[in-house]
Amino acid sequence: MSDGYAAMAEAARQAIAYRRAVATAETTPVATYAEMLAAFSAPTPERGGDPQAIIAELAECATPGIRASTGPRFFGWVIGNSHPTGVAADWLTAAWGQNAANLQAAPAAAAIEAVAATWLLDLLGLPAEASVGFVTGATVANFVCLAAARSEVLRRVGWDVEADGLFGAPPIAVLIGEDAHATVYSAIKYLGLGAGRVRMIACDSSGRMLTGDLERAIAERTDPTIVIGQAGQINTGACDPFAEIAPVANGMGAWLHVDGAFGLWAQASPAQKHLTAGVDLADSWATDGHKWLQTPYDCGFAIVRDAEAHRRAMAITASYLPPAEGAERDPSAYVPELSRRARGFATWAMIRQLGREGIAAMVESHSAIALHMAERLVAVPGVALVCPVELNQFMIRFGAADAATLATIRQVQEDAVAFIGSAQWRGHWVMRVSVTSIATTMAEADVTVDAVISAWERVADTQ
Ligand SMILES: Cc1ncc(COP(=O)(O)O)c(C=O)c1O
Repeated sequence: MSDGYAAMAEAARQAIAYRRAVATAETTPVATYAEMLAAFSAPTPERGGDPQAIIAELAECATPGIRASTGPRFFGWVIGNSHPTGVAADWLTAAWGQNAANLQAAPAAAAIEAVAATWLLDLLGLPAEASVGFVTGATVANFVCLAAARSEVLRRVGWDVEADGLFGAPPIAVLIGEDAHATVYSAIKYLGLGAGRVRMIACDSSGRMLTGDLERAIAERTDPTIVIGQAGQINTGACDPFAEIAPVANGMGAWLHVDGAFGLWAQASPAQKHLTAGVDLADSWATDGHKWLQTPYDCGFAIVRDAEAHRRAMAITASYLPPAEGAERDPSAYVPELSRRARGFATWAMIRQLGREGIAAMVESHSAIALHMAERLVAVPGVALVCPVELNQFMIRFGAADAATLATIRQVQEDAVAFIGSAQWRGHWVMRVSVTSIATTMAEADVTVDAVISAWERVADTQ
């Protein structure tokens, strides 16, 4: 019988072997969910087992069902690389078993969050006085930021939502770009703001909020108001014109929240930050670590200019929980959970790994790769770019009908040289390409483009 340490060593061995293989391998097809279910299905274990053997069994069963999202030719959804340095920091995080709830339970975790928070604000060009909550991702970051927004806009009209809830509260007007991400609606639902009662603001053909429509909507409302913009539309990469919309929102006393799950990282690049100009004028920002910062899942940041509103919405107190004192930062005052993973370790490690220069270089390289891929693809007859390439995202259509686009995506996935997915945009199916992994190079992008062209040529022959 081996001990738990042997299991940890086995996990490290298996993980390193996997990452070595995936770094150079083609994007192999993964087993289906049904196959994985069959592989794992067994009666509830009656007795325990050998630690190392359990981990070896886990790796053997799971590996066929591991999507190669850490590989160099993965362009699906918007997924970072789980960089080895971040993974290693995360292993330590798990091994240390820290509960990042408070300063006494986890002094190192609490301190590293405080430091990583200041680094994040600096890199993202956001106000130094803003507070940062380390959450699971942009979905929860949106929820946390909008909870602070709800608290503050109601406080300004004399309503204490934390104490009195929403029953009988003054209504809140929520103005939101019509191409907002689905998870913002989740946050709105969790907060009782009603996904169905928002006022949609019209967007341009790339999904950017139209300032004129926002001006009209904001002039019409009389209720306390939250405006929700976005940096990085999930399909197009487009960012709202913050330098225009922030003064409109600020001038009318509205709270401006920005969903910047990946696009906020344009702020970290001298060459790309013009795309997010004015975003620092907002009141709150949601972004992810597990996308462009390349941390392992899960990692996101809820950033709020008014730290007091942030704490009002989230802080937890109980006699058995030691409070932070003076300038100390209480890690649980900025997140919905009490007990939670110490995400500051991986965040700190990834910022240390890449540095300001490395992050800027990565954002710029991904943007250049996306543009290069799109330019090569649209040179092929029958292939069309849906809107101009913004940041690291673009969409392509094949042939005249949706069926050709879907058939090409299916063919690319079956060929398994690279992984690219689909989405709908303005009522049509598109191939949606996201360049988000630090493993992706220009050479790997070229191999991918060759594979896409080959797939399309075979589909076109059957049309
Ligand atoms: C613009 C935007 N907002 C929110 C989210 C949700 O982020 P997460 O899945 O990290 O919670 C995403 C995810 O891709 C996104 O692109």
